[in-house]
Amino acid sequence: CLVYLNGDFLPLGEAKVSVLDRGFLFGDGVYEVIPVYGGRPFRLDEHLRRLDNSLRGIRMTNPLPDARWADIFGRLIAGVHDQYLYLQVTRGFAPKRDHAIPAEVNPTVFVMCSPIAPIPVSGVRAVTLDDIRWQWCHIKAITLLANVLLRQEAVDRGAAEAILVRDGWVTEGAASNVFAVIDGVLTTPPKSSDLLPGITRDLVLELALENGVPAVEQRIRVDDLKSAAEIWLTSSTREILPVIELDGVRVGTAEPGPLWSRMQAIYQAYKE
Ligand code: PDD
Repeated sequence: CLVYLNGDFLPLGEAKVSVLDRGFLFGDGVYEVIPVYGGRPFRLDEHLRRLDNSLRGIRMTNPLPDARWADIFGRLIAGVHDQYLYLQVTRGFAPKRDHAIPAEVNPTVFVMCSPIAPIPVSGVRAVTLDDIRWQWCHIKAITLLANVLLRQEAVDRGAAEAILVRDGWVTEGAASNVFAVIDGVLTTPPKSSDLLPGITRDLVLELALENGVPAVEQRIRVDDLKSAAEIWLTSSTREILPVIELDGVRVGTAEPGPLWSRMQAIYQAYKE
């Protein structure tokens, strides 16, 4: 499938960016991952609003109006049913490597689509790790070195995801948000600069409210996570993923829990 780069639609192998792009040199940019179901971008407005916020957070403005983004996505996803869109906006090419932001610079805008990997709904293992990331985790920055190292540490330990902990409190996963069922109540940490405001997270809370599932946004102590009846991870690429083992100890009955089954059914119905 074609990709979009700075106004052109071209094959992936022909899409080239300068080595002086600030995205390459500094990780100076932001991104979005948008699932496409039944040929339609899912929760598009929410993703575009978060993109605006991320851009504002790094002193940029959205280079394209919503209608143009929608056009580009429409062209890239034509003919493919389920996939996801990856978009990235970097500060752009600057002739000289200087940390400070140059006055005259045009953003690099890149969009590609990728197949959605099968989601292991029978559940995954996770490990808790110290959240070593920076303090502006609400910005969806392409600067993902800490997330990469944390996810790899999880993989090295035979787990699918790292659940991150800052000062004894759960923040989120290395590439997902975290929910726990504590005393029968679906619980997820409130939005703050410690975590990405996940689009899937918000939808799960919205669906819980609509369907009478008791849910709260409340900080979670790592000890409470460890004794939770259920733990889920949410993201655009993994939907709602049950965690059946945490730090080598089983979660609940070591099978996806009853509240997960219920929410999974509600979520899948909503996707239709
Ligand atoms: N990651 N937290 C982090 C750190 C993430 O990277 C992601 C998503 C989420 C979940 O957000 P959403 O529900 O909007 O996908 C939370 C994407 C999928 C990625 O980096 O590939």
